[in-house]
Amino acid sequence: MSPVTERTPVHLPSGVSLEQVNGTEALVIDTPAARAVLHLDGAHLTSWTPAGEQEVLWLSELSEYGDGAAIRGGIPLVGPWFGPGRSGDKPVKHGWIRNHPWELTEASFDGKDVVLELALVDADPSGGGLRADARFRIGAELSVDLTLTAGAQEVEVEAALHTYLAVADVRELRIHGLQGADYLDNTQGLAEDRQEDTALELTGPTDRIYSVNSEVRIEDVAGGRSIVSCPRGTAKTVVWNPWPELAAGMADMPDDAWTSFVCVEPAVAKESAQVLRSGGALTIGVTYRVER
Ligand code: BG6
Repeated sequence: MSPVTERTPVHLPSGVSLEQVNGTEALVIDTPAARAVLHLDGAHLTSWTPAGEQEVLWLSELSEYGDGAAIRGGIPLVGPWFGPGRSGDKPVKHGWIRNHPWELTEASFDGKDVVLELALVDADPSGGGLRADARFRIGAELSVDLTLTAGAQEVEVEAALHTYLAVADVRELRIHGLQGADYLDNTQGLAEDRQEDTALELTGPTDRIYSVNSEVRIEDVAGGRSIVSCPRGTAKTVVWNPWPELAAGMADMPDDAWTSFVCVEPAVAKESAQVLRSGGALTIGVTYRVER
């Protein structure tokens, strides 16, 4: 983790530029291995296209930007709580770290991958001093790591990498790696259920918190490719798609856009939440690759 000092400008290596994208500051990555866009607001990656591939991350064309808005799509960083929090009464859904501008602390390019590190300090509305750090390794594969570090106060934390994966048709997916796993069904008041011993195929509004911390392969049958999600430091895998009935109520998503993405989210949430003592940290991460 790099210290955040008095706004020392970080040198941007070749292949990385700071630009205005959708009206807000973003790091634009363009290397032989990949193109990507990383907004400073929320340390939010909204695009990753490995060379020779199609876009891997879905982004809503109606997303809001700036002024604390949560970008709809890409990889929202979620924490220090998930959803409404374990108590169910948190004022902001999915925590506050996605609603603040982060600061770039490190940037490098080794000829293959771009590595970008960002930090969010002095933003904890509770006064507890929780800090967040994120690290992105962007190339033919994509790695994202999120660290939450407790300040002076002990704190219980949840965290998630709320990735919106671009797919040709969410109704034609086979999601492998969840077979036989227990899950909480958030469309049924968090009822306990168990996945059959088959790949998951989505057939309606889906909001499930699986007790799975290992590799998941999203087979995009109509798109002719698979996206592989390899998490680390997690306990859960959340699978979410609103289907038309819920999508219609979301102002920042076109009514028909729900077919084009699935969220598969490596997470520490619900009963796997961790209590961090002062200075203690939780790191979760994921690496993505595309297979044809
Ligand atoms: C998922 C949750 O992770 O995110 C869903 O499981 C939620 O319950 C979805 O609706 C989207 O959340 P938001 O706050 O980005 O609209």
